[in-house]
Amino acid sequence: MCGIVGAIAHRNVVPILLQGLQRLEYRGYDSAGLVVVNNGQLERVRSTGRVAELATKSVNTQGFLGIAHTRWATHGVPSERNAHPHISRETIAVAHNGIIENYEELRARLSAQGYQFTSDTDTEVIAHLIHSHYSKGNSLLAATQMALTELVGAYAIGVTAADNPNLLICARKGSPLLIGVGENEHFFASDASALLQVTKKMVYLEEGDVAEVNLDSYSVFNAKGELVVRPAHISELTNESVELGDYKHYMQKEIHEQPQALADTLEAVCNSHSLVPGIFGAEAAATFADINSVLILACGTSFHAGLVARYWLEEIAGIPCNVEIASEYRYRVSVGNPKALVVTISQSGETADTQSALNHAKSMGQPHTLSICNVPESALVRMSKLRLLTRAGPEIGVASTKAFTTQLAALFLLTLVLAKQRGRLTKESEQKHLHELRHLPSAAKSVLGIEPVIAKLAERFADKHHALFLGRGLHYPIALEGALKLKEISYIHAEAYPAGELKHGPLALVDKDMPVIAVAPNDILLEKLKSNLQEVRARGGELYVFADANTRIHSSEGVNLIQMPEHAGYLSPILHTIPLQLLSYYVALQKGTDVDKPRNLAKSVTVE
Ligand code: AGP
Repeated sequence: MCGIVGAIAHRNVVPILLQGLQRLEYRGYDSAGLVVVNNGQLERVRSTGRVAELATKSVNTQGFLGIAHTRWATHGVPSERNAHPHISRETIAVAHNGIIENYEELRARLSAQGYQFTSDTDTEVIAHLIHSHYSKGNSLLAATQMALTELVGAYAIGVTAADNPNLLICARKGSPLLIGVGENEHFFASDASALLQVTKKMVYLEEGDVAEVNLDSYSVFNAKGELVVRPAHISELTNESVELGDYKHYMQKEIHEQPQALADTLEAVCNSHSLVPGIFGAEAAATFADINSVLILACGTSFHAGLVARYWLEEIAGIPCNVEIASEYRYRVSVGNPKALVVTISQSGETADTQSALNHAKSMGQPHTLSICNVPESALVRMSKLRLLTRAGPEIGVASTKAFTTQLAALFLLTLVLAKQRGRLTKESEQKHLHELRHLPSAAKSVLGIEPVIAKLAERFADKHHALFLGRGLHYPIALEGALKLKEISYIHAEAYPAGELKHGPLALVDKDMPVIAVAPNDILLEKLKSNLQEVRARGGELYVFADANTRIHSSEGVNLIQMPEHAGYLSPILHTIPLQLLSYYVALQKGTDVDKPRNLAKSVTVE
C-alpha cells in the first residue's frame, strides 16, 4: 500500500527520499513521485512503474527539503497525473496514504471556489483545502490542522509549501506515520525501514497527531491541537535485516529465515522451565482467569494462523474458539461475549480491517483483547490490552512466510498457557511441549533441506492454470495457506478443501490436467486422507503428496511423493507450511512473475 517519505536537511534530500521509497517498495505500489522546494518553487517529478524510473527522471533534481510517495491506486487509474505529490496553485504539495471518504463533496465545493483539479484522486482535495486556509494568512501548521478537521476517512500525509523552505508538516489518522530524528536533520515515513539509512531514532505519531518538522527540531500536536511529547524509540531494525544479501528474492530469504525467526519468537519460553501468562503482559493472568472462550479476528494468511489455533485451543486447552475474517466480522451483527478473549493476529499490525474488527469487538462489550503481531509499535498492539510479539524481523515479500510460522508458534504458546491455567496441562506434558518447541527451529531447518526437490518439481507446474490443495484437521488451514501462496505469487488459480469434502463437489474438477497437492502428516486422519487420495487417482488426477516418514505412501504413476521428516505432533502444521511456501516460490520463478511484489497486491493493507 502507499508509502510516504519526507526529509529536511542541510544536504540534497533527493537521494534520501529515493532510497526511502525503495525501502517501501515492498508495501506494493504502481507509481511514484517526489517534490522538493528549490529557490521558492516546487519541483515535482512523477512516474508510473518502479522507483528506479523515478530515480532516473530525478537525476537533476535537488532540494534541502521534500516529500515523496509510492502510490497504490484506489481513486483513479495508475498514471503519472494521478501519482502523488499533488500540488495546489504551485504553492502547496501533499503526499497522502489512506482514503478520503467525503472527497466528492469537497471536490465540488473547491471547484466552485475556482480550484482546478488535475487528477482523479481523492488526495488532491487535501492540497486545495490546505491552500484555501494557507492563502488566508494562516501558518502552514494551522492551515493543515484546519483542513484535517474537514476530512472524513483515513490518512497519513506529508505537506510542504513553496514559500516555506524550513518546514515540513506531517499528520496521521488511521494510517501509520513516524518521525525520524537526526543530527540537525529530520525525516518522516510510513515505516521505520524507510529511514534506517539516516537514523534509528523514531517517534511514532498517534491517532490525530499533526507534527511540525524543522531542521533542528520537531513538535507534535494531538487531535485537540495541544503540544504533546511522544516517546522516541531506537529502532532494533538493522540495514541488513531489510537487505536482500545473497538471496534472489526477499521471499526466498524470508523462507530461509524461519528457523531463526522461530527461535527468536520462542526465546523467552525455550530458556525457561515453565510457561507463565506474564509473557502476554502484566494483566494476562487476571484476564485469562476471566475468559470462557476465544474469538480470533484476522485477514489472509493471519486468518489461516487463527484457523490452526482453533484446533489447538479446543483440543489442548478445552476452550471454545471462533475464528472470523476481520472484514466480515466488522460488519456482521453478532452477539458479544464479555468473557471472550478477542485475539487479533497481524504481521503488520496496521491492517485496516483487523483494526476495525477489534474496535467493533470492543464496542460490543468485549474488553479482553490480545494482539499477536510482528511490529511492536503498530496500531493493533497499542489498541490491545495484552500482546505477544512475534520476532520474525521485517517481512518485505508481499507473500507472508516467516510471519505466518511465527504466528503459529505464538498461538501454540497461547494454547499452552491457557491449557495450564485451566488445569489441562500436567507437569510432564508441559515439559514435553517445551522440549518439542526447543527442537522446532532445527526441525524447520531440516525441512528446508528439501528445497532442491521442490525446485525440480515446480517445473511441472509451469503450464498449469489450476491446482487443488487438500488437507484434513489441523492441516486443512495449511492447505488453504498453500493455495493462497500459489495464487498470490504465481497467479495460478488454486483452491483448498478439507479432503473429506472432495466428493461433495470439487471432485468434479479433477482430471489429468488438475494437479492435486496433498498435505499428509502421519496423524490420526492419515488413513482417511489416503482414501480421499484414491478418489483423486481414480479420476486421473496427478497427486503431489507431502508426506511424513512412515506413512507408507510411495511414488507411483500419478503419485509424486515429497518426503517430509517424522511427524511433529501438534507442531506439524508449522513444518508442513514450509514446503508449500517453497513450491509457490519456485512455481513463480518458473512463471517469471514479480515474486516479491505480485501484481495488484500490497504488503500493508491500510485501507478498507
Ligand atoms: C499473505 O501472503 C498476504 N499477502 C495477506 O493475505 C496478509 O496476510 C493479510 O493482508 C493480512 O495482513 P496482516 O497480517 O499484516 O494483518
